[in-house]
Amino acid sequence: MEKTFLMVKPDGVQRNLIGKIVERFESKGFQLVGAKLMVVSQDLAKQHYQEHVDKPFFMELVDFITSGPVFAMVWSGEDVVTKARAMMGKTNPLDAAPGTIRGDFGVVMRKNVIHGSDSVDSAAREIGLFFKEEELVEYNKLS
Ligand code: CMP
Repeated sequence: MEKTFLMVKPDGVQRNLIGKIVERFESKGFQLVGAKLMVVSQDLAKQHYQEHVDKPFFMELVDFITSGPVFAMVWSGEDVVTKARAMMGKTNPLDAAPGTIRGDFGVVMRKNVIHGSDSVDSAAREIGLFFKEEELVEYNKLS
């Protein structure tokens, strides 16, 4: 089954949004297969955001994601990478539609509450950066 990496960013954790965000993905029918509250190191942040290394806001991104605890998650389900992105809404909360996570809770570009992998390949890379194999669970099949 497809997996994606989602992370409630420091602004979302500080604003007590973890429960509300997890609830949306559970209600949709996706399965949580890994989760942890953690502080991201500078090193991990730089690896996570490596595709943005040449952008002018790269160090801003690193400083923000390391500024407080994040809630890192792995979710499983059919087409979960694309569906989770749709549920998150556009990157800039000001452009994100009402009903999406960023549309409902986001404030500004940098403080956009949640990160989600943008492709199946990115998901595999990001899950590998944040989780060890043994930290992910398997559910028994309901039939
Ligand atoms: P995220 O999904 O974590 O992935 C990269 C992040 O870069 C994105 O969310 C935004 O928070 C941030 N970002 C994208 N574009 C800009 C920008 N023009 N200025 C500042 N931050 C940005």
